[in-house]
Parts: sequence; structure tokens; C-alpha cells
Amino acid sequence: MIVLGIETSCDETSAAIVDDTRLLSNVIATQTVHESYGGVVPEFASRAHLRTLVPIIRRALAQAGIDLNELQGCAVTYGPGLAGSLLVGLSLCKGLSLSLGIPWIGINHLEGHIVAPGADGEPPAYPHISLIVSGGHTLLVLVEKPLVYRIVGRSIDDAAGEAFDKVAKVLELGYPGGPAIEKAGLDGNPHSIDFPKALLERDNLDFSFSGLKTAVLYHAQSLGQEKMRQLRADIAASFQQAVIEALVFKAFAALQIHDCKTLVIAGGVARNQQLRRRFEHDCRKSGVTLRIPHPDLCTDNAGMIARAGHMRLSRGESSDFDLDCAPNLSLQSTIS
Ligand code: KG4
Ligand code: ZN
Repeated sequence: MIVLGIETSCDETSAAIVDDTRLLSNVIATQTVHESYGGVVPEFASRAHLRTLVPIIRRALAQAGIDLNELQGCAVTYGPGLAGSLLVGLSLCKGLSLSLGIPWIGINHLEGHIVAPGADGEPPAYPHISLIVSGGHTLLVLVEKPLVYRIVGRSIDDAAGEAFDKVAKVLELGYPGGPAIEKAGLDGNPHSIDFPKALLERDNLDFSFSGLKTAVLYHAQSLGQEKMRQLRADIAASFQQAVIEALVFKAFAALQIHDCKTLVIAGGVARNQQLRRRFEHDCRKSGVTLRIPHPDLCTDNAGMIARAGHMRLSRGESSDFDLDCAPNLSLQSTIS
């Protein structure tokens, strides 16, 4: 089955084609219009999707060497995300389904992140623990078998990516914050400041990043603007280190509690090289199989949506045309 995936939940416009085993193309256009505003401006995001989605789909088809008429299904993110942005992808997917006479399915964006490592290769062994670290979510999910999930931990306040973005603002590093903090931290000492790591008890799988974010804010304020700028690299590296420590601690606790030997990490924060290296090292040492998708499959992308859609459409599932976008959709609502 050849499936087109569409992703327009936030500020990436993306289209991808998968067949039964492979990812044939995954085209991602990151909107740059938001950079000067310090965050995503919802109306600009939907307008940019409207302008670029059709050319992006054309490019995904061309790269895959597939004709529009060869598509046998299409899948689209219907939540969570920005309503106006979701509507662009959802409307186009419904239109394609109607005109081509093929089934379509609305996909939970979080499920996309979970299945991402299987988008361009063998899926990870089951059961496994999936750590989703994105701008909107930090979740530990027990994936018992394909498409069967149990949420075992979550952030009780800020998501990890959100903390990166907010700390980047404090350090005057611009938007998006994650890559900017990673870059600034390259010249810093990650052990220079001992920031707090909340909730480090082995039997509690929840995260908390807001105390850490506030500690960075107070630290920066106590230094004053000039000194903060001088010491920015150390602050960025130490903050990043504190986030990674918390993620490693909880991920390994989840593996132990749920008796799993495979760990998946996905979501935009999983692009972070320090995080990838640290998990690779610790997993090797403890005999855990680690699957972190290619960076293009970590960030918001349609490849993961196409794969989730392929999995569900192959089981005979599909969506009805009255499906609305769901800006606040939780993973819980997709758990059957
Ligand atoms: O999964 P994603 O692309 O979008 C959401 O579903 O939220 O994740 C975006 C988040 C942003 O908060 C961004 O700052 C963060 O991922 N991010 C990073 C890096 N690249 C992106 N965080 C840390 N290090 C990075 N290299
Ligand atoms: Zn995402």
C-alpha cells in the first residue's frame, strides 16, 4: 500500500510517501516567518501552510517517483496542534481522498512520534519504552505492541522543548531555543552550575522542568545582563546537562520498572547531539537497545504520520469526513 502523509500541526509543512516497508520521501519545509517574533504566530503559520502544502506534496511525489493516481491512502495529523494549521492539512487530505476515491485517516501527532523509528526501517522490538521529548510534550510511553500504548510518565509542568525555548529567551538566544542552546553550550562547561533536577525518585516517572527554568532565570538575573552574556555558554551547557540528566534518570527507571530492554527517543529535542551521545553511551553500558530516529524523523515531519497511517489503514481503519481537527488531542484519547 502506498500512503501519502501530511503534517501541518505547527510550523513545519511536510509531506511524505511510504510503501509497505520503506520511506520513499519526506519533504519538510520549516517556516522562518516566526523567527523575528520569538515564537510561532498561529495566523502566519496557517497562511504559510496554505501557500506551501501543495508544492510540498508535489515534491514528495516526485522524489518518491510516484504519480498522484498511484496513492492508495492518505493520512494527516488532526491534533494536537494549532487549529488553523491543522485545518489546512486536514482539508487537503479530505479533498484528495474524495477526488481519488481512496481511504484517509486522521492521525494523532504523538502517535506519529512514537512510530517514527519504524518509518524508515525495522520497527523496534516490543514491548519498548518510548520517550517523547518535543515542544509541547514530555511523555514516557510503554508500547506493549504495535499501536498499543500506556502512558507511564509525563511532565507535570513544562515540556522539555518548552524549557529549552524559554531558557533561550532568558539567555537572549532567539527562537527556536533548542538548537540555539545546544550551539551556545558547545563552548561552555556543563558542570559549572549545579541546577536543580526535580523529582529524581526512581518510583516516580513524572518530570518537572519549570523549577529548572526558574532557577536559570534567577541565576541570570543575579548576574546582570553583561555578566550573563559573558557566562552564557556555561549557563546553556549546565541547563542542557540538567535536562539530559533528568531524562536519562527517568527513562532508565521506566525501563527497569516495566522490564523493557529497548528504548525509543523521539520528538524535536531528540535532535540534540549531547542527548543522543549520552543515551548511546548509557544504553551501550547497560545492554539496552536504543532507537533514535534520523533527526528529520525527530522533528515534526510527515514521514512518521505516513507510517502511522499506513499501519492503521492496513488494518482496515479509516476516518469519516466529519472528523474535525482536535487542537488539544491527548495520546490517552488514541489508546484503545
Ligand atoms: O517535535 P517538535 O519538532 O515539535 C513539537 O511537536 O513540539 O519539537 C520542537 C521542540 C522545540 O521546543 C525545539 O526547541 C526543540 O524541539 N528542539 C531542540 C533541538 N532541536 C529542536 N531541543 C534541544 N536541542 C535541539 N538540538
Ligand atoms: Zn511534534
